[in-house]
Amino acid sequence: MNDVARMFARTRRAAALLVAVAAAGCALRPLPPVDADVRTAARAVALPVEQVARGRALLVGACAACHAPIHPLDLELADWDDALPRMLRKADLGADAGAAVRAYVQVVHLAPVR
Ligand code: HEC
Repeated sequence: MNDVARMFARTRRAAALLVAVAAAGCALRPLPPVDADVRTAARAVALPVEQVARGRALLVGACAACHAPIHPLDLELADWDDALPRMLRKADLGADAGAAVRAYVQVVHLAPVR
């Protein structure tokens, strides 16, 4: 895919996702807690549980200022990596916050499906 095609694909995905988020309202899928399954997945890839927990807190906090919290499994990891740098700038957050969000998203992808 060339850059322009990629940009359009991303914009379509983002639009579809935000419409889904808006339409879901209160029925939005809650973000998985940092429970035993998530902690086990974090240990398996040597990510500190505190970093994972901070990532979840950011996703439901600072990252939810403009849109509802986005469930890690709503996007492929590659799409998270694509969106995160832009979103960190929007939220005025630094690299350590980005690493925390990435850690939580990655670990939920590895944990048993929910
Ligand atoms: C200042 C408002 C604002 C803040 C703060 C914000 N976002 Fe967003 N976000 C948007 C808008 C607008 C879009 C849709 C357009 C786009 O993708 O740029 C979006 C889209 C997204 C998408 C879908 C992108 C895609 O390519 O499918 C994800 C994932 C996301 N945001 C995650 C985050 C995370 C994580 C944070 C915190 C680090 C965050 N957002 C903070 C405004 C914001």
